[in-house]
Amino acid sequence: MDRKIILTGDRPTGPLHLGHFVGSLKQRVELQNEYETYILIADQQALTDNANDPRKVHNNIIELALDYLAVGINPEISTIVIQSQVPEIAELTMYYMNLVTLARLRRNPTVKNEMQQKGFNENVPVGFLTYPISQAADITAFGANLVPVGADQLPMIEQTAEIVRKFNSLYGETLVEPKALVSEIGRLPGLDGKAKMSKSLNNAIYLSDKEEVLKNKVMSMYTDPGHVRKEDPGKIEGNMVFVYLEAFDQDKEGLKDLKERYQKGGVGDVEVKERLFKILNEFLAPIRAKRSEFAADKEGVMKMIIESTARGRVKAQETLSMVKKAMMLDYN
Ligand code: TRP
Repeated sequence: MDRKIILTGDRPTGPLHLGHFVGSLKQRVELQNEYETYILIADQQALTDNANDPRKVHNNIIELALDYLAVGINPEISTIVIQSQVPEIAELTMYYMNLVTLARLRRNPTVKNEMQQKGFNENVPVGFLTYPISQAADITAFGANLVPVGADQLPMIEQTAEIVRKFNSLYGETLVEPKALVSEIGRLPGLDGKAKMSKSLNNAIYLSDKEEVLKNKVMSMYTDPGHVRKEDPGKIEGNMVFVYLEAFDQDKEGLKDLKERYQKGGVGDVEVKERLFKILNEFLAPIRAKRSEFAADKEGVMKMIIESTARGRVKAQETLSMVKKAMMLDYN
């Protein structure tokens, strides 16, 4: 029986944080035994809004790989692929460009959002505006059935599915239509309670954060501004410490009890923050340890992902040759 295929990816622009973990890393680690798994280090996509900083992208390749290994991606069963080293993806992108209108790209909510955030307006780089097409190539090149993503990436998978349907209806059944796999926890807000956790908003807890850094971040978290004295009743809704406890605290009974006591009054923010710090630190400690083990042999890790990229490339080559055949671009 054919195994189903999973593909996900990240832009190598900075370290991975808890939002990434909740959004899709956790699922990747859990599903890698069951599915044929590809993980794309999307350096070309990273350049679509970092063209002026190739060094950042370059340096973050290894950092991203270390984060993957640290959380438990097993390189013996998951294939880590560096996007730029698989030129077949770029070639597929070229063909898919004919199947997407400019208007459709401008309507893509994720692109729209990011364009606003970055203040691009009319001066948006063409590469940035069209990155959903390149992402469709990422996904289809490896024949992915499932794409574990955070909720903000859903429009990308939708656009990919549209491209697949259009391609198949024009040139014959060739590409696999992917489905998104969104985590049950949903997206994790940032420490400040604003929007999602993200590097650019400077409100993230990184998987590689040291204990002291973690402590400072947890202690600075947004709680309930109305909860001034310990005796005051506190609010749970919109209180980031409780949002994170909900996502990471395994002791559901204890958490329920704490919530009740906090709402009644008599529990200080420090107590709940201490609890969260302990839980997060216990979660991150083994990840940190594993990370530094791998980091001691960066050359070995780099060699490993280059080899794994070469293995992954074979799959993309197969897809590209099917695509070219379907499009009557095979002349021999
Ligand atoms: N756009 C994704 C992000 O910013 C990264 C990404 C690139 C991706 N290629 C992908 C995600 C393919 C899923 C599938 O997080």
